[in-house]
Amino acid sequence: MKKIWIIHNSLHGNSEKISKQLAEGLKDKYDISVGSIKNISPKDITQDEPYGLIIAVRIIAFCSDKEIRAFVNNLDKVIKKPISKVAYFSTHALGWKKFFIKGIKKTLGKIGCVEDICPEYLEIKMQGAEGPAIEGADVKVEDFISILKDFLK
Ligand SMILES: Cc1cc2nc3c(=O)[nH]c(=O)nc-3n(C[C@H](O)[C@H](O)[C@H](O)COP(=O)(O)O)c2cc1C
Repeated sequence: MKKIWIIHNSLHGNSEKISKQLAEGLKDKYDISVGSIKNISPKDITQDEPYGLIIAVRIIAFCSDKEIRAFVNNLDKVIKKPISKVAYFSTHALGWKKFFIKGIKKTLGKIGCVEDICPEYLEIKMQGAEGPAIEGADVKVEDFISILKDFLK
C-alpha cells in the first residue's frame, strides 16, 4: 500500500479529529500515519518516502498556522524523493475567508518537494476556538474523502 502522512499541529483537538476522520476514510486503500508536528520531525516523514501528504492548517490570527508552514519548509530541506500528492484542509472559528489559506498556498508553491497539489481543500468551521465543529461538518469531511480518493489515484 502507498504511504500517506497526515500532519497537524492541533492544540484543541479540532484538526487532530479531522485528520483521524480522513485517515479512517482512506485506510482501506493507503497506509496512513497521522502525527502532530509537536511529536514528529521532518525526518520521520522522509524516511517513509511517502506518496502523499495531507496538511491540517489551523487558522491563527487570520493566517495559516505559521508553525505547520515552517515544518513543511523544513521537510523540503531534508527530503530526497518528492511527494507525489499533497492536499490540505483548514479548521477555523470565524467566517471563512479565502485569504486565510494564502500562507499555506504560498509555502507549497515555493517548495520543491511537491509534485501535485490537490486543487480542492476542505475548511471546517468550529463553534469556537475549542470546537466542536458546526453542524454538517461530517458530511463535508466525507465529501472531501471522496475528493481525496480521486486525487490520490
Ligand atoms: C490564538 C488563536 C487565534 C485564532 N485565530 C483565528 C482566526 O484569526 N480566524 C479563525 O477563523 N479562527 C481562529 N482561531 C480558531 C482556530 O483556528 C480553531 O479553533 C482551530 O480549529 C484550532 O485547531 P486545533 O483545535 O486543531 O488546535 C484561533 C484560535 C486561537 C487559539
